[in-house]
Amino acid sequence: MIRLLCRGYAYPVMTAPALGPLELAVDHGEVVGVMGPNEAGKTTLGLVLSGMAPAVVGGTLDGSLEIDGVGTRGQPAHELAQRVGYVAQNPATQLSHLSRTVYEEVALGPMNLGLPREEILERVDDALARLGLEDLALRDPRRLSGGEAQLVAIAALLAMRPSHLVLDEPTSQLDPAGTRLVRHALAELVGQGAALVLIEHKADLMDGLCRRIIVLDHGRIVLDDAADAVFEHPDFLRLGLVPPARVRLRRLAASAGVSLDPLRLATALADGAQS
Ligand SMILES: Nc1ncnc2c1ncn2[C@@H]1O[C@H](COP(=O)(O)OP(=O)(O)O)[C@@H](O)[C@H]1O
Ligand SMILES: [Mg+2]
Repeated sequence: MIRLLCRGYAYPVMTAPALGPLELAVDHGEVVGVMGPNEAGKTTLGLVLSGMAPAVVGGTLDGSLEIDGVGTRGQPAHELAQRVGYVAQNPATQLSHLSRTVYEEVALGPMNLGLPREEILERVDDALARLGLEDLALRDPRRLSGGEAQLVAIAALLAMRPSHLVLDEPTSQLDPAGTRLVRHALAELVGQGAALVLIEHKADLMDGLCRRIIVLDHGRIVLDDAADAVFEHPDFLRLGLVPPARVRLRRLAASAGVSLDPLRLATALADGAQS
C-alpha cells in the first residue's frame, strides 16, 4: 500500500508548494486514475507518490510517504525503485543513454539488482514480449521513435517487477495498437496484485481499468470517487475534462431521445474505445 500525507510539496528554489495539502492511500491491487487540467499537479503527484520527489528531483515535502508501512524518508533511490516503479511523462528522459541495445536497456534495472543471469534474461524476454518489442531488441535506444522509446521505458519498468507502479501519461506518444498493448500489460499486472496509479488524460484508457479516479486542480484533490461517479460529476466537465467515448455516446443518445442498450454499446465500443 502507498500512503501519502502531503501538507505541501515545493520544487527546489520555489517557495509556494506545487502540490497539497492532500492525503492519498492506494491499496494493493487497486488501480487509481489521476486526471486534471494542465498544470493541475498530476506529474508532481506522480513524482511525490513514487518518492522521486524529493529524493531525486529535490525540493521539500512537508509530510510523509509510506510504502507497505515503511517510511521512505532517507531511503536510497535504488531501493525505492524496487518498491515503486515510475515511468515519466517524457520517455526520452527515462532512458539511461548508456545502453547500446534495447535489450541491454531493459536489462539494466534487473542487473543493478544483482539478480542471477537466468532471471535477468527471463525478465527481459518477458517484458519485451508483453509490449511486442521483440523485433526492437537489438536496436540502438537512441534511434527509437517517441512511441518506441515510450514502450521501452515501460518494458524497463516491468522488468524491475516493482510491487507498485506510477505511470505518467504512458501512452501519450503511442498509436492505438501500442496503447492496447500497454493496456493489456497493465491489466495483467493489476490482476497479479500490483497497486497502480495511472496519470492520464485519455479517459478511454482508464475506462474499465481504473475503478477509482481522482481529479486534481491547483495541486489539490477535488474529486475522489468511483470512475462512473467522477465521469458524471459536474465538476469533471467544468474542468474541461473529457469522459470516455461510452459516456459521451450515451449522453448524446439521451439528448437525442434515443435509448441505447448499455451492454450492446459496451461490446461495440470495446475495441475502438481502448485506443
Ligand atoms: N521542476 C519544476 N520546478 C518548479 N515548478 C514546477 C516544476 N515542474 C512543475 N512545476 C509547477 O508545478 C505545477 C504543477 O505542474 P505539473 O505537476 O507538471 O502539472 P500537470 O502534470 O498536471 O500538468 C505547475 O504550476 C508547474 O508550473
Ligand atoms: Mg504532467
